[in-house]
Amino acid sequence: MLRLKVYFTQRFKSYLSFCIMAMRSFDILGSVAIVKFPRGSSASLKKKRAEKIMKENNGIKAVLEKSGKFKGRLRKMETKFVAGEKTKEVLYKENGCVFRFNIDDAYFSPRLSNERKEIADAVGKNDKVLVMFAGVAPYSIVIAKKSRAMVWSNEINKRANKYARLNAELNGLKSRIVFLDGDIKKIAKKIMRYSHGVNLKKFAKLGKNYSLKFSSSNYVDLNFRTTSERGNLNIPRYFDVIVMPRPQLKDSFLKEAFSLSKRGARIFYYDFCKADEIDEIKEKVKLEAKKARKKIKITKVKKAGEVAPYRFRIRIDFKVL
Ligand SMILES: C[S@@+](CC[C@H](N)C(=O)[O-])C[C@H]1O[C@@H](n2cnc3c(N)ncnc32)[C@H](O)[C@@H]1O
Repeated sequence: MLRLKVYFTQRFKSYLSFCIMAMRSFDILGSVAIVKFPRGSSASLKKKRAEKIMKENNGIKAVLEKSGKFKGRLRKMETKFVAGEKTKEVLYKENGCVFRFNIDDAYFSPRLSNERKEIADAVGKNDKVLVMFAGVAPYSIVIAKKSRAMVWSNEINKRANKYARLNAELNGLKSRIVFLDGDIKKIAKKIMRYSHGVNLKKFAKLGKNYSLKFSSSNYVDLNFRTTSERGNLNIPRYFDVIVMPRPQLKDSFLKEAFSLSKRGARIFYYDFCKADEIDEIKEKVKLEAKKARKKIKITKVKKAGEVAPYRFRIRIDFKVL
């Protein structure tokens, strides 16, 4: 009975502290503050709070209300204008990089800036890096900038992809990031098919002068070029590092990650769970590895932020042996 009481008291305290944190805190993206108001807040209270935020924080020109959760496959957020300039396009700076994007068009979390730095610090110049679920490319850009490695950046959201290209340009990284637009499942299949020789046989006379061409639409086409033209369009069959800032959806996408990882590859895998479910996620990763006939070694497990009361984003780092 006493244990039950302690358990519920702790859960209530955790819930309360999450609510207080949510009430007090807000995210700042460039000159825009995004606030999650407590449920039932009146319009005038929201406006008053928004004006206070603008007054107390020099440089904040607009306040938006986060009116819903990140939704659907594209993980887009719904925001409503509360006060200040009517803009949803921001210029945000972190880790010595700049990012321009429309808040409603693509997922973005400034709370992951330390994650990006940590992973970038673990990447070497000669690593071939695949970033899945790249959004407007914050991971791809911070990694390419800090490590000077070559990055292949994948994202399914067309609007996000436009901003990602712009951001690569803004950060002077056009030559070090290759964009792989579309569903990672289809892209992984294409890359695998390409390596299995079906098409290579057909075009054998072109020898090794081939590369994968990704068209401006979301299709991946096989295209063969001369060696000198290969350049940045050359897509590796296997990667040294795979970063997986996954959407909070059921699919683990580990099958795709294993199919594209070389021996010795390091994978940074994100998932979501309650504090007491971390071991289950570790077991899931191990099971997926077994299914893919890969041996792995988990090197690190960390909580990478609280996404709801008692619910965490966790990062599992592992090596493919
Ligand atoms: C949690 S967001 C991460 C975005 C970005 N990495 C960041 O930190 O700002 C997940 C992203 O995965 C994308 N996505 C969802 N399913 C996908 C798929 N099958 N293939 C490629 N991208 C996908 C979504 O559009 C979304 O931008």
